[in-house]
Amino acid sequence: MNTKIVQINPHSFTPAALAEAAELLRAGKLVAFPTETVYGLGANANDPAAVAAIFTAKGRPSDNPLIVHVADEEEVAQIAAEIPPVAITLFRRFWPGPLTVVLPAKRTVPTEVTAGLPTVAVRLPSHPVARELIRLSGVPVAAPSANRSGRPSPTLASHVWEDLAGRIAMIVDGGPTGVGVESTVVDVTSNRIVILRPGGVTLEELQEIDPKTALDPALGFAPGQTPKAPGLKYTHYAPKAPVVVYEGTPRSIQEAIRQTAAAETAQGKKVGILATAENAPAYTAGEVLVAGSRCDLTTVAAALYDALRRFDELQVDLILAEGVPEEGIGLAVMNRLRKAAGGNVVQA
Ligand code: TXA
Ligand code: MG
Repeated sequence: MNTKIVQINPHSFTPAALAEAAELLRAGKLVAFPTETVYGLGANANDPAAVAAIFTAKGRPSDNPLIVHVADEEEVAQIAAEIPPVAITLFRRFWPGPLTVVLPAKRTVPTEVTAGLPTVAVRLPSHPVARELIRLSGVPVAAPSANRSGRPSPTLASHVWEDLAGRIAMIVDGGPTGVGVESTVVDVTSNRIVILRPGGVTLEELQEIDPKTALDPALGFAPGQTPKAPGLKYTHYAPKAPVVVYEGTPRSIQEAIRQTAAAETAQGKKVGILATAENAPAYTAGEVLVAGSRCDLTTVAAALYDALRRFDELQVDLILAEGVPEEGIGLAVMNRLRKAAGGNVVQA
């Protein structure tokens, strides 16, 4: 398949620029598009064959359900059997934006979307290109992140190309995504807010709506616990080289990484260091990639996945990654880093 690329300036475009992409979606084809979190791989959510094609293109396990992206809040009623009051509160506060809400599904939602669960995840993205594309297509759009399964999510159109060229009809290139990590997935089917996947909307922000907002207990790495978001049980967000995450104070992390990098380099290993701007100057061995600043963890989130992909290009043997405080978006960053590390975490 020939994958077409369409370039769109997200700050200034006409609907006509997205007409072909919308037509492809309606016709059951796969179109990658930018959202404010990461690039999504879209298909018409009402078309079971189109949705099934997403799983083939990504190599995604069939028991991992998809998020349905809508053009406005009213469209949720076509997909959800019930919308509890807390969901309405969340829509009003965080939509459009990086929050996905799990609701009881209508029977008409294809099982290819829900992976057979009685629930469906819905999201109204804020990215202007995503919103216009969904609106023009006239259908709800099922979309996972537009990476090959197990790879870091794409934050640039070139990442989508690396993973999916030749496997999908079109990539809409709207430049870099903003947030850099995926949406926060919450379950409200118990009328409480439970975070199944930390993301762009923070725990602290959700606690302003309900102070009892909790993390899915299975989000930790305790053996025998299965996360409620099926996608989180897979090794995910992973670059090719093994990753070790260092937690501690900025100084203790820096010291531990310096020592390990020196020792591994002496053994002939090519070491990658995922550094924050503050600590980076101290690293003298290895390939150092700076992913954001400790002063503003949103910059770390925005740079994370591109850095993990660049370590693949550099063909490093090992990646030593600085941990960050689990505050604000730092919670999502650490969730992704721990998963990339397969739980390989060092207390520095
Ligand atoms: O920011 C995002 O959410 C991006 C953009 C493209 O919108 N999408 C994304 O989709 O990250 P994906 O498929 O890569 O991750 C969706 C996560 C998976 O962990 C999946 O298991 C979970 O949401 N999920 C989907 N439907 C669910 C449901 N009904 N119940 C529980 N978890 C669900
Ligand atoms: Mg994904």
